[in-house]
Amino acid sequence: MTPKIAQFLRDHAPATPCLVLDVDRVEANYRRLKAALPLARVYYAVKANPAAPILERLTGLGSSFDAASWEEIEACLAAGARPEAISYGNTIKKASAIKAAHEAGVTLFAFDSEPELLKIAKNAPGARVYCRILVENKGAEWPLSRKFGCELEMARDLMVQARTLGLDPYGISFHVGSQQTSTAAYEGAIARVAMLFTDLKEAGVKLRMVNLGGGYPVRYRAEVPGIDDFGNAIMGAMTQHFGNDLPEMLVEPGRFMVGDAGVVSAEVVLVSRKGKDDPVRWVYLDIGRFGGLAETEGEAIKYAFRTPHDGTADGPVTIAGPTCDSTDTLYEKSNYRLPMALTDGDRVELLSTGAYVTSYASQSFNGFRPLAEHYI
Ligand SMILES: Cc1ncc(COP(=O)(O)O)c(C=O)c1O
Repeated sequence: MTPKIAQFLRDHAPATPCLVLDVDRVEANYRRLKAALPLARVYYAVKANPAAPILERLTGLGSSFDAASWEEIEACLAAGARPEAISYGNTIKKASAIKAAHEAGVTLFAFDSEPELLKIAKNAPGARVYCRILVENKGAEWPLSRKFGCELEMARDLMVQARTLGLDPYGISFHVGSQQTSTAAYEGAIARVAMLFTDLKEAGVKLRMVNLGGGYPVRYRAEVPGIDDFGNAIMGAMTQHFGNDLPEMLVEPGRFMVGDAGVVSAEVVLVSRKGKDDPVRWVYLDIGRFGGLAETEGEAIKYAFRTPHDGTADGPVTIAGPTCDSTDTLYEKSNYRLPMALTDGDRVELLSTGAYVTSYASQSFNGFRPLAEHYI
């Protein structure tokens, strides 16, 4: 929690549940990433948190943007981003959205299949395209599975086809999975990209760009490697495989840029037990899976909690949200402990919740309003 957020919570005690996000911390994270990877251009993954104050601050800093939809492109443009600074990075796009992006001046598009490539050729003629390849997601706490990317051989053929379709075969992208805790994941992925660069050069297609994706982690309950460790591993692998002929490098950080800039302030609604002697208390909060904590699914992302009783005796808990849905249980198996003194009405903070929370919140499941947001 940044001092600015702590001060805001003290001074305003805003109604819960709400997210309070320190935009200065986003700027600091952007600068830290630039320092760790000075040769890479930063495309902020808007999906992590699309709030206008974040997009405006990043635009002012010269950041570029990775957009997942036409609506995110509109948000970037409204924040003052130039269309040339926007990458339409989703490999699943409606033809109408590709057309709208092209007409707005966006020139960079991702794909991972032939039908998508044909759609881009038709609706964004002459665009720069990059193909997303499948890579290992081992080490990621929020893996992206096989939904995105294609095999190397297919990527090779599609990049050759891109040229014949009148597109500009610009580069290759990958994503090693979100909250990636292993620097080796990037090294392995870069080795695969390098093989593709060589194959395509032999086929007469000279690629110019590697999109290293997102994945850079945030500290939740456990330590993670620092951004410098990722920078060193990435630059080591790039130099090993490309030597002096380094291609342009893009990074698409989402979680790293905004995660630790935000705190969710919530209220304890109920503390109860299932039996008189049950050692485990159930702690129900006024925010849960449907209030924005979607990444607690499978207890994948383990947020750290702060309570007014920290430092006093604690005991095991199951933590759940307020709705009448049994999947709205956040942590049952992850050995969470909270103070014995915790009671209904207490305010608690969920730390490092600036990424992938507000945008996941449902409209009004069980009648609850979406999470309030304060950008300071
Ligand atoms: C194409 C793309 N780029 C970047 C990101 C951001 O990833 P992260 O938040 O792990 O940095 C995602 C996340 O899903 C993505 O799909």
